Amino acid sequence: MVRVLSGVQPTGEMHLGNYLGAFRSWSAEQYESDAFFCIVDLHAITVDFDPKQLASRTLHTATSLLAAGLDPSRCTIFVQSQVHEHSELAWILECTATMGEMRRMTQFKEKGAGQESVSLGLFAYPVLMAADILAYDADRVPVGDDQRQHLELARDLAHRFNARYGETFVVPDASVPRVASRVMDLQDPTSKMSKSAQSHLGTIMMLDDPTVIERKIRRAVTDSGTEVLYDPENKPGISNLLELLAAASGGAPDQLASGYPNYGSLKSAATEAVAEMLRPARERFAAFSRDPGEVRRVLSDGAQRAGEVAASTLRRTHAAIGILT
Ligand code: AMP
Ligand code: TRP
Repeated sequence: MVRVLSGVQPTGEMHLGNYLGAFRSWSAEQYESDAFFCIVDLHAITVDFDPKQLASRTLHTATSLLAAGLDPSRCTIFVQSQVHEHSELAWILECTATMGEMRRMTQFKEKGAGQESVSLGLFAYPVLMAADILAYDADRVPVGDDQRQHLELARDLAHRFNARYGETFVVPDASVPRVASRVMDLQDPTSKMSKSAQSHLGTIMMLDDPTVIERKIRRAVTDSGTEVLYDPENKPGISNLLELLAAASGGAPDQLASGYPNYGSLKSAATEAVAEMLRPARERFAAFSRDPGEVRRVLSDGAQRAGEVAASTLRRTHAAIGILT
């Protein structure tokens, strides 16, 4: 059976980009593969964070994964720090990675830009991510478009390690959704939707209720002209709405365009489709929130299962580099 692994940072509430770029394909994966999903709390501490909120955000993210449709009887959901092998494998891979290739990582350049100082952890972030993936012999890693470069690094490290020390790691492939792999900010459709956006109006949260979704889409920035066309270069706002509509209701963004005589009708259709798509997640979230003990049980079972796989990979890795056993 194909092995799948992916991860999400416990940054609090999840947004539509996370849902479409990641969670939705994750819930499809659980029916066709042996899937592991990891809440990467050790990645979250590479930038400023609030220790008082880390644990509750981790639980909130786990609840969001369950709400998005992940079923713990079909996949393994766990917290990264609860499987210590991730950190240990990361160190070994850090000795395989080079400073030069790490400096080229776009996310590091973006997050580090304008900061007086950045942590060594932020620099090493992509190697820890490679460890997350390689620890599970993952064949496939479903992520949004923004993670492609990190995936490429994980592949490079696996190849290099195998060439130096003998076949040890499975070389993973990225799997990026065809539609909405990069959901853009509704207020600034040239930037990707993210939690740190300037205006909260630009970001639809997974748990927003239909009236909030309606308001955000109604106020979404559109482009000059009046014609509904799929043209991400010249009409980024309208194209983003078409992508959302396509992702939520099926069809292809360029073909859907002709069905809408003006921007207003496209906005109404997108609102309805997005609100309807997110409805089950909203309902499930409410149900799981009433039972935090159950969420903790899911995570503890998950860490147990994940730990067995990761420990076996780490033993193999130690043997490959000749560590005394
Ligand atoms: P993060 O919250 O950054 O840890 O991201 C979790 C997952 O959501 C990753 O697979 C990302 O690629 C995906 N993701 C985050 N933002 C977006 C976005 N704006 N569009 C599509 N996918 C996204
Ligand atoms: N870096 C990813 C993000 O910000 C999260 C992540 C950490 C991840 N480890 C991973 C994704 C392993 C896939 C596989 O979205």
